[in-house]
Amino acid sequence: VITEKQVAEKINKLKKEKNAVILAHYYQRPEIQDIADYIGDSLELSRKAQQTDADIIVFCGVRFMAETAKILNPDKKVLHPNPESGCPMADMATVEGVLRLKKEHPDAVVVSYINTNADVKAVSDIIVTSRNAVKVVKSLHAKKIIFVPDQFLGSFVAKQIPEKEFILWKGFCPPHFNLSAKELLALKEKYPDAKIAVHPECNTDTAEIADFVGSTTQIIEYATTCEADTVIIGTEVGIEYALKKKNPNKKYIFPQAAEYCGVVHCCDMKKNTLDKVLQVLEEENNEIILDKELMEKARIPLEKMLSIS
Ligand code: 13P
Ligand code: SF4
Repeated sequence: VITEKQVAEKINKLKKEKNAVILAHYYQRPEIQDIADYIGDSLELSRKAQQTDADIIVFCGVRFMAETAKILNPDKKVLHPNPESGCPMADMATVEGVLRLKKEHPDAVVVSYINTNADVKAVSDIIVTSRNAVKVVKSLHAKKIIFVPDQFLGSFVAKQIPEKEFILWKGFCPPHFNLSAKELLALKEKYPDAKIAVHPECNTDTAEIADFVGSTTQIIEYATTCEADTVIIGTEVGIEYALKKKNPNKKYIFPQAAEYCGVVHCCDMKKNTLDKVLQVLEEENNEIILDKELMEKARIPLEKMLSIS
């Protein structure tokens, strides 16, 4: 049997030989973060994908992230270690539904979270990520916003931009949704000096009691640098690896989500494994293939976002 270290060595060798770059989201398994060239949140990874001069991009994240890399680089080969790794929230939005809302509200602008499939991006006016959503929506002239698909990120943005009217798609992220404010408050009682940092995909009650709401990378930055020695983390447990690496002197508490009796855990993100990364590099299989015209349409709102943020 081949050890994890040997698999990693093979990956690093092939990466050089094939001029490939490995991009990984912070929710990926630690061993994948270790062989990645860049780790980031969805905005940072889209930027890296847009700027890379590699011939092959191995995208370790869920499918919409790999699709985004392909849309921004239609001439490059984008490989997704496990095609089964999707995002349940992205699958909650449909083109038909978005077109129906557009018809009902002809004066509205469609703002889609990057957590959408390529066909939904293609009928959107602009894309946002959790890091730049407030900034991007503020920059729009339109008064009326159709926000797709995350109702909780949508509510978070709406609260900060009261002058605009929001029509929210009723999608949500199952792992983040299950984290309740009650659990956070119980932990706060146990650790009164702790700060609470959560992702905007958490439900509204949870976000309201947090000291900080931000994207994956923003949470890591906040938690590792804020004055508190203990930080209660309301997002996916995969970031624990980066938190401990960046600042091992602090205590990071990951609450147990009531529904699952487990921490916030995205099983889709964990479907990529080191073996699968090696396999796609060797065989160049699991390539992201999208219709050319669809990619051209989806690229417009994505590039609009990247030019603003
Ligand atoms: P980030 O924008 O923070 O990377 O979030 C993406 C995501 O899917 C979180 O669940
Ligand atoms: Fe999708 Fe939630 Fe998983 Fe992020 S954590 S990829 S939003 S299911």
